Amino acid sequence: MNSEEKTPVGVIGVGWVGLVTAACFAELGHPVIARDVVQEKVDALSRGEITIHEPGLAELLERNRDRLTFTTDMDELLNGARLLFVCVDTPPTYSGDADLSRVRSVVEDLSADGDHVLIMKSTVPAGTGASIRRELPGLAYVSCPEFLKEGTAVEDFMHPDRVVVGSEPEDSAAAEEVADLYRPLGGEFVMTDTSSAEMIKLASNAYLATRISFINEIANVCEEVGADVSEVARGMGLDERIGPHFLRPGIGFGGSCFPKDVNALKLLAGNSGYHFQLLNSVIEVNELQKRRVVSKLTKHLGPLVGKRIALLGLAFKPDTDDMREASSLVLSARLRGEGAEVVAYDPVAMSNARSLLPGVEMSDTAQEALAGSDAAVLVTEWSEFKEIDWTEAADRMRRPLLIDGRNFLDAGQLRSAGFLYEGIGKAGTGDESG
Ligand code: UGA
Repeated sequence: MNSEEKTPVGVIGVGWVGLVTAACFAELGHPVIARDVVQEKVDALSRGEITIHEPGLAELLERNRDRLTFTTDMDELLNGARLLFVCVDTPPTYSGDADLSRVRSVVEDLSADGDHVLIMKSTVPAGTGASIRRELPGLAYVSCPEFLKEGTAVEDFMHPDRVVVGSEPEDSAAAEEVADLYRPLGGEFVMTDTSSAEMIKLASNAYLATRISFINEIANVCEEVGADVSEVARGMGLDERIGPHFLRPGIGFGGSCFPKDVNALKLLAGNSGYHFQLLNSVIEVNELQKRRVVSKLTKHLGPLVGKRIALLGLAFKPDTDDMREASSLVLSARLRGEGAEVVAYDPVAMSNARSLLPGVEMSDTAQEALAGSDAAVLVTEWSEFKEIDWTEAADRMRRPLLIDGRNFLDAGQLRSAGFLYEGIGKAGTGDESG
């Protein structure tokens, strides 16, 4: 089948999810028309430039340029495709509920048109689809939540664990059409109702966040009782009912999804009259976890006033320049609150980070950040940090102390280089003797 025969796909909103969706459907041979309200973004993408850092995405966009059209014009989109993926942001409002204003404005733009299938990729509270469906009786509505992870989004799109497709009975033909788009990718299909599809997305993110807060608390107990959390997680993960994923302790989860979606689910429950107690703890544990590093530093250095602390990594996770809800934001604010000087290096997130971290000095290299520091904290597990010459770093630092916030580096190697190395949930790692 050549590309002309494949169903055209429309994408509304070319942020991170929209752009990955557009590029991947183009790679599968579909003509794709993607619409965004921001003219500069559309112009840049039309010239073949992308502004987000996502491995493999630039290559995909380049390879499929002839199948991709970017526009600000809603009519052009509506004329170009029947199947419309909505990929607009649903950030938290002041109340913490999901802000649906961008979804609403898309719905308003579409209301005159009856022939399209609206496919919701944006994360929305359960019940949103059913209410949009009531407003736009002529339009088919399908919920198809995204499960992509930043940094591996292209890979995740091309090899999904599962594809969730939710619809009301009157839209079951449209739901099958959507499922057909994903069939070449394999994975399990969950054909369900709209509200259940919406809940699958929120519950999945909330559950994964719960696992992280759980293992972080286990790590904290391990430090107290003389156990090693990596061994504990390995032993737990071999139980098939538990599984090995998302049991890496650290200095808290961040990003545009987990913090927002955990809170949104808690509020969705609360607004419906149910108190979701467990999620309060998930959020609180995560906040405290970001701050524990400060007490670890104080344990070794005493008061932090005037101490120079180097942060290795700023992005909320590696392979992205995304700073949303990054642990580095809270950590650097706390350190500066204690009177410390903070210096940082991140391979790609520094330009995004600069305006968010006033007063934090940015370095061009990791070695430059480490030079003259009293301690370093590994915040984001960028692979290039494994290549650092730690012997040179130990010489250049005022005191060779490293808190590994992601248990990422080789403790033995660091200690041989003369470092006092402390990880997360590793008993005895704080001892001078190592
Ligand atoms: C998350 C979900 O994993 C995706 O399935 C979902 O599609 C996406 O949110 C979304 O709703 O859009 P993402 O936020 O890109 O993806 O990143 P993750 O890889 O899930 O990591 C989130 C945070 O958890 C990071 O700060 C990471 O460092 C932390 N994390 C992850 C841990 O601390 N421990 C772990 O074991 C795993």
